[in-house]
Amino acid sequence: MARQINLETGREPTDDVWEAIYTQRAIRYWEEKPVPRALLEQVIEAASKAPSGSNTQPWIFVVIDDRAKLDEIAALMRGFFEAAEPIRNLISAGEKSEDKSERLMLKGAKQFFTKLERAPAIIIPCLYQVASPTPDPASLLAGSSIYMAVQNLMLSARALGLGTLMTTAHAMIEPNLREMLSLPDDAHPVALIPIGFAGANFGPTKRKGVDEVLRWNSWS
Ligand SMILES: Cc1cc2nc3c(=O)[nH]c(=O)nc-3n(C[C@H](O)[C@H](O)[C@H](O)COP(=O)(O)O)c2cc1C
Repeated sequence: MARQINLETGREPTDDVWEAIYTQRAIRYWEEKPVPRALLEQVIEAASKAPSGSNTQPWIFVVIDDRAKLDEIAALMRGFFEAAEPIRNLISAGEKSEDKSERLMLKGAKQFFTKLERAPAIIIPCLYQVASPTPDPASLLAGSSIYMAVQNLMLSARALGLGTLMTTAHAMIEPNLREMLSLPDDAHPVALIPIGFAGANFGPTKRKGVDEVLRWNSWS
């Protein structure tokens, strides 16, 4: 049974966990003002409350709010995009899509690749010295010990009126990021998340209905 909750669009903070979950969406536009470090610390603290295998908490969150480093990351991302013809073609095709939400998503994706310097801060969550449920950082199972923290981070940001964008675009510039951020060999970036006061509305997301994704007691 669908829960009746306030699903109005807007940029206001909320303390209602259901509203936060149901309206947290990819925000690719931010207000041109810095995010106080106290708020960035709050979302990292929320992330650190997540469960992990054997409670090993194999994570370090590198938060970048230094303008020179943000610009450097943005330039790397733009450089990647300019060299990546298949991605550029995919985005150009999607921008002409009949589906409005697809059009907006791909327009936003282009903005992400080409104008990332507009992000007031970027968070790079790193899997660090992972041991449980597997010591293999490249394994899907290793992700289970950090992506819940990432979701906590994004939901708490939404609660504070901060817009985030989950991306795995770090992978495209990982060698440069490693050097720029002095990441040790046993730290593995798992996401690149711009964050700032939302410059676009939170709101109901377009997702499959529960009837499509729920199976009782067996697959069929
Ligand atoms: C694993 C993953 C990788 C993603 N990578 C990108 C990306 O590279 N660029 C981008 O603009 N959005 C990226 N996104 C954001 C998705 O496009 C977005 O979450 C999805 O379209 C749902 O958007 P909505 O919450 O606004 O409905 C990524 C999301 C996930 C979970």
